[in-house]
Parts: sequence; structure tokens; C-alpha cells
Amino acid sequence: MVWSERQRAMLEVMGLRVWSAPAAAEPDAAAATGVDEAVPSVAPARSPAREDESVSMAPARDNVSMPAPVVSRRPTPAAQPTAVPVAAPGAVNAAGLDWPALREAVASCTACALSDSRTQTVFGTGHPHAHWMIVGEAPGEAEDLSGEPFVGRSGQLLDNMLRAIGLSRHAGDTPDPAKQVFIANTLKCRPPRNRNPLPDELARCEGFLIRQIELVRPKIILAMGSFAVQSLLRSSAPVGQLRGRVHRYQGVPLIVTYHPAYLLRQQTEKARAWDDLCLALDTVEAAGSIAARG
Ligand code: URA
Repeated sequence: MVWSERQRAMLEVMGLRVWSAPAAAEPDAAAATGVDEAVPSVAPARSPAREDESVSMAPARDNVSMPAPVVSRRPTPAAQPTAVPVAAPGAVNAAGLDWPALREAVASCTACALSDSRTQTVFGTGHPHAHWMIVGEAPGEAEDLSGEPFVGRSGQLLDNMLRAIGLSRHAGDTPDPAKQVFIANTLKCRPPRNRNPLPDELARCEGFLIRQIELVRPKIILAMGSFAVQSLLRSSAPVGQLRGRVHRYQGVPLIVTYHPAYLLRQQTEKARAWDDLCLALDTVEAAGSIAARG
């Protein structure tokens, strides 16, 4: 397996050391992943998805008998038709708001009890027309204090992953929206003690996320973790069952992947998350070349 610089960089930032198997040793499928035994040993490629991450705050599981991470790039699977979600009953109505009005509506929102315990709302960050949009779960303590999404440990991992594929959430890094990411959460307020979002909270807050996606008009959405998936795809299926293919949200290709906080607990899943990023890249590139051909 020959790794490109980009692939090596991505594996390394995700904590996976890369080795080149001697040519004679190649038949072993696990060796073909190019991931060394810093990752616990793994079985051959793309076996059925396991039950995982039904909630992203779930405790770490035993990973001894996990299927193999597949870390090679592969043809982009066809997009799956998915229902177009409409705002849940009780959702705040942010329809038609522009960026400043939406920001103000989020900042002053009292639609659920989370407004009582928050320090401040966490609106989201990034280029207003970034080609990439990342949807996470909810602010944690660091985000509640700073007002920025993903600034804790999982945010550092996320930033490293993004950097490895040439993306940034900081508009100052590059003026090119194709290299920019807008990051938002399903909830704009921190749930107390970082508990899981409640269905009613997700439903009420959803109008804000819907409007953010409408305004950004991303070329690709990465739904990170089960709550993003629940909101965007209306699915309670585990992340492991939904990842690996292209979904659609309002016509926008959507890739399901693991939440970075989960990756910090389940190091072996980083290889799959890397695979998901590759799928997202392939999807964006394929859409770009189709558009260029007219
Ligand atoms: N986890 C999330 O899903 N979002 C954040 O902003 C921080 C942690």
C-alpha cells in the first residue's frame, strides 16, 4: 500500500502510525490497511457495521472483536435517497432570517430550559458560505464559556483532522470557501453536566440549524455523532450502520461519521473516521467535476 502525503498526514494527526508492509507480506488484508499495531489488531476489511455509538456520550466499549477499519479510498457510493426533513413540531421558527437576525435570535432564545443554565449560546463558527459544514451535538463546558463550538479536546482532534485535508474553520486561514468549514451544533446551549440532548430540546433548536444550513448552502455536510444524525436524517440507527454511504439533506450530500469525543475514547475507530473524511472528499470532488463538465 502506497500512501499519499495527504493520507499519511491524516493518519498521523488521527494518531495512527503508518508503515509500509514488505511487498511479500501483502496478501494479509489487515496489513493492506497500512495501519500498524498501534491500533489493536483488526479483522479483514469492511465486515458488517457493528452496533456502536447509539448515543455519543455512551461509555467506551470493549473493542477486542471489532471489524477492521478500512482506510483505503474507494469509489464513491451512490447517494442514498433520504426524506427531506422538515422542522419538528415546536421548532423555533427561523425561516427567512439573515445571518445577523439569526445570530440575534439564537442569542436571545428562551425556547427551552437550557436557556436558564447556559452561560451563553454557541451559535457556530466559520465562513458563511463554506463548502463544508460540520454538525456536532451540543456545547460542552468549554464551549459554554467561550461561545465557540468544539474548543475542547474533541475540538482539537477535529481541527487536526480538518487540517490534514486542507480545511479550516478560520476564515483568516484562506479566503477560499472550498477550504472552509462552518461548524454548528444541533443544540446552541449546553445541557447541564453535559448530559445528552433531550428530544424536546433537539426539536425546538432545530429551526436554527435548518436556517444555518440554508444560509451556508454547503456542498457537503458531515453529521458527527448520533444526535446530529437524529436531527438531520431523522434516524435513530447507530452511526456505524449509517456511515460509509452518501445520504442527502435538502439535496446536499451528507456523510455520517463518529463524534470526535467518541474517537477520543475509541481510538480504533479513528481509521473509520478517516475513511469517512475520504468519502466526503471524494463526494465533493466528484460533484465538482460533474459541475465543471456542465
Ligand atoms: N461536542 C459537540 O458536539 N459540540 C461542541 O461544540 C463541543 C463538543
